Amino acid sequence: MRVLIAFAAVTTATTAVAAPDAPSPILTTPEAKDVLTYARPEIARVTHVDLDLTVDFASHVIHGTAALDILAAAGAKEVILDDKNLAIFSITDAAGHTLAWSVGASDPEKGAPLTVQLGTARRIVIAYRSDPGASALGWLPPALTAGKVKPYLFSQGEAINNRSWIPTQDSPGIRQSWAAKITVPADLVAVMSAERLTPGGEPAAKGWHSYRFRMDHNVPPYLIALAVGDIDFKAIDGRTGVYAEPSTLTKDAAELSDTGKMVTTAEALYGKYRWGRYDVLVLPPSFPFGGMENPTLTFATPTIITGDKSNVDVIAHELAHSWSGNLVTNATWADSWLNEGFTTYFENRIDEALYGKERAATLADLSWDNLQRDLKTAKPDATRLHGDAGGSNGELDYNKGSTFLRTIEYTVGRARWDAYLRGYFDRHAFQPQTTAGFLADLRANLIKGDRGLETKLELDRWAYQPGLPDNAVHVKSATLAKIDATLARVDAGAPITSVDAGHWSTQEWLRFLNGLPRKQDAARLGELDRTLGLSASPNPYIRSAWLVLAIANRYDPAIPSIEQYLPSVGRMLLVVPVYRALKAVGSWGMPIAQRVYAQARGSYHPVTVGAIDRLLARKDDAAR
Ligand code: BES
Ligand code: ZN
Repeated sequence: MRVLIAFAAVTTATTAVAAPDAPSPILTTPEAKDVLTYARPEIARVTHVDLDLTVDFASHVIHGTAALDILAAAGAKEVILDDKNLAIFSITDAAGHTLAWSVGASDPEKGAPLTVQLGTARRIVIAYRSDPGASALGWLPPALTAGKVKPYLFSQGEAINNRSWIPTQDSPGIRQSWAAKITVPADLVAVMSAERLTPGGEPAAKGWHSYRFRMDHNVPPYLIALAVGDIDFKAIDGRTGVYAEPSTLTKDAAELSDTGKMVTTAEALYGKYRWGRYDVLVLPPSFPFGGMENPTLTFATPTIITGDKSNVDVIAHELAHSWSGNLVTNATWADSWLNEGFTTYFENRIDEALYGKERAATLADLSWDNLQRDLKTAKPDATRLHGDAGGSNGELDYNKGSTFLRTIEYTVGRARWDAYLRGYFDRHAFQPQTTAGFLADLRANLIKGDRGLETKLELDRWAYQPGLPDNAVHVKSATLAKIDATLARVDAGAPITSVDAGHWSTQEWLRFLNGLPRKQDAARLGELDRTLGLSASPNPYIRSAWLVLAIANRYDPAIPSIEQYLPSVGRMLLVVPVYRALKAVGSWGMPIAQRVYAQARGSYHPVTVGAIDRLLARKDDAAR
């Protein structure tokens, strides 16, 4: 049984003045308990955050105030917030009266509990600053930007990093509306994942200006995001556009010109887009992910700008999160497949509607390859969709989760499944969700007591057991089957000059490079490299897959390419496998990894640094 608690019925104003949405319910069932927060929302919870912050590039610090609205149960004495290395100067009520507060013992990942004595206060004002090493914040010197003249800052909240720059209850089940005033140097632009109220900025103290933002919907706090830099905008259509540094904007906007169509396509599938605008911010190369679904403003890696639109599925993915993830949100990180698996499925449906069945099949077939790889290498326990309390199981969430939903689609038929999913997003809009909650909803609204269907679907096995149930649907791609035929010829000794790669998409390249036998002699590697231009490929997906193969064979001529490539890209998916490959050929690779990393480390975001530090320090690499 789901238990919804909102404490008090908050009446919604019917005046013309926009007001934040009434507080969203929280879940209090045992499986909805988030072990990665110190918050105790059943006692007192944050419902709204007002930020007034200044971004100081000289000291790599954000400072100012966060004012929090608190909804407290009867008799509540305190509110507990998450705090990761913040320096707190004072905490007061709305009238400026000091409130007592204390910070508990700190954990390197979770940070520390910040407990504030509420008294009768229901709005508290925290004066603070972030630490220069804040785990959410990437501070880039000008050299790491496209323009090379101005510095850049971006935040990455998911999963539990926003507590390093915002003192709030940093848990995906505790939704909050928010607003912000951000003051930055006058030659820089600030953008956030919310309605942008002052596109040109407003004057502040000399040499500074301010930007204001508001998010009236309740969102999980990991979706509050900020970027500051030399940022320009180009519209695609009335509600979509691209933000990027001026020198890359034209190219970025051309690559992403289908974004407006993607939004209409997504709406036709699963219901109205509820967030107003949908824009994409193309970041500098140290952005650690492919994309991040920050509401109204997807953050994207520049590695998807390959000139042929063959990686815009990343945008379809982040856009799809506007339903799966941002509307209906995993209540805890143990259920992150509800965000990522649903989104990977939805993304593929957008790809199909926009680019056709074969293109979607190519992407789905490649996900299947990755799923098979992960099922082989992961510990069985890590192959469950509903993970243990601690968090996500990496790509399995994406590919096993999407395969689960596709299997339901094929079993009940597309029309019935799509109607169900539209209803699901509506029923749970702006609310947290658990695996148990999803299965209950599915049983109530799709299966409706049909015993035969229940048996066929094997829901509990999919959700809670390791491995892959045998009803799993594998979509096969004719395009990739052709690559497999090429691979067979090459394997039988055909010259590489006979490989017709001229019009390959990134996905065909990946099937080819990852499908080559892992053992290759130097002569054949040289032939591959020369003929296909691999060491010099400007496409980072190709470059990464090639280097992994070259490294596995200790191919010395690839060393300059490794040295050039690794410091130039910070997207974990494209650099971690290269470091992992170097580590796997210890005596040849580790010295290269150490040497290149010493130079590259400073150019990566803290989350990439954390991942590679751990990888290179770990004895074995069992935990992928
Ligand atoms: N929400 C994720 C990124 C993320 C996941 C950040 C977990 C922090 C913790 C985002 O939507 C995503 O999945 N990005 C993918 C791209 C996608 C096309 C698979 C990525 O970054 O590669
Ligand atoms: Zn995602």
